[in-house]
Amino acid sequence: MVSTKISLSGIDMDNPIIPASGTFGYGYEYAELYNINILGSFSFKGTTKDPRFGNPTPRIAECMGGMINSVGLQNPGIDKVIKEELPKLKECFYKPVIANISGFSKEEYVHCCKLIDKEEQVGIIEVNISCPNVKKGGMSFGTTPESAAEITRAVKEVTRKPVYMKLSPNVANIAEIAIACEDAGADGISLINTLLGMRIDLKSKAPVIANKMGGFSGSAIFPVALRMVYQVYEAVDIPIIGMGGVSSAEDVIEMIMAGATGVQIGAANLVDPYICKKIIEDLPRVMKKYNIDKLENIIGGAHR
Ligand code: SIN
Repeated sequence: MVSTKISLSGIDMDNPIIPASGTFGYGYEYAELYNINILGSFSFKGTTKDPRFGNPTPRIAECMGGMINSVGLQNPGIDKVIKEELPKLKECFYKPVIANISGFSKEEYVHCCKLIDKEEQVGIIEVNISCPNVKKGGMSFGTTPESAAEITRAVKEVTRKPVYMKLSPNVANIAEIAIACEDAGADGISLINTLLGMRIDLKSKAPVIANKMGGFSGSAIFPVALRMVYQVYEAVDIPIIGMGGVSSAEDVIEMIMAGATGVQIGAANLVDPYICKKIIEDLPRVMKKYNIDKLENIIGGAHR
């Protein structure tokens, strides 16, 4: 019998499969399709202090091997998430969840983390300093070690839950950002968010996306994500949640060998809403094929 169990900051999970924020709503939508309790956990849609309508449309562009989104952190705001979404989620998911938090100032991150800290079902807070779709805030906090450390320090002061900083790939040296977060007290690192990209419509001769640019995700970015997870694993001693273009059990194993403990599945959920279930069911077969008894034994296994 192979073991797919892993542990993230003291939270034991049946497997490392975690749907990524923004691709799995608040869980209950997918619970209509299958029993989502088979998941390791999941990261719910990025939440901000105030409700947000998001960016103008069109917000989505298709590309070879993926898609570009410019959603702009659409969400009902932290108060409504706590009052209306989390109780619904609790009815269909009994495991700890990951709360994804975004902000436009340090104070907004602190406000949200303080409130979410009181939510029993939240096991990990994933602090998004990497959204490429908003003008101020978002990614701008994740592109220098100083600002990444400042947000990390501020949220760590207001919560006892494990804090994972979600990093942007749109930087020259992702390892130095991860080190800054670790030094500032982060309990883990999530990476990567989307790559800044764009498309131009040949008929209108204008950008396809109203906001001109957006975040590129999907299987095409997998090698970039894998490389960054590998680099961050060499730079820090805290656990990593790896993501970016993961769409098969083989990809999950590669991510773990690069250094991830948990693995998030993002854009693939939008192509096939059953993909996480399929990967969970396929993992034991792929593990046997490559003589892997326990996933936890191969974390970082590709580092020599
Ligand atoms: C969005 O809502 O724009 C996507 C979230 C993100 O990329 O962090």
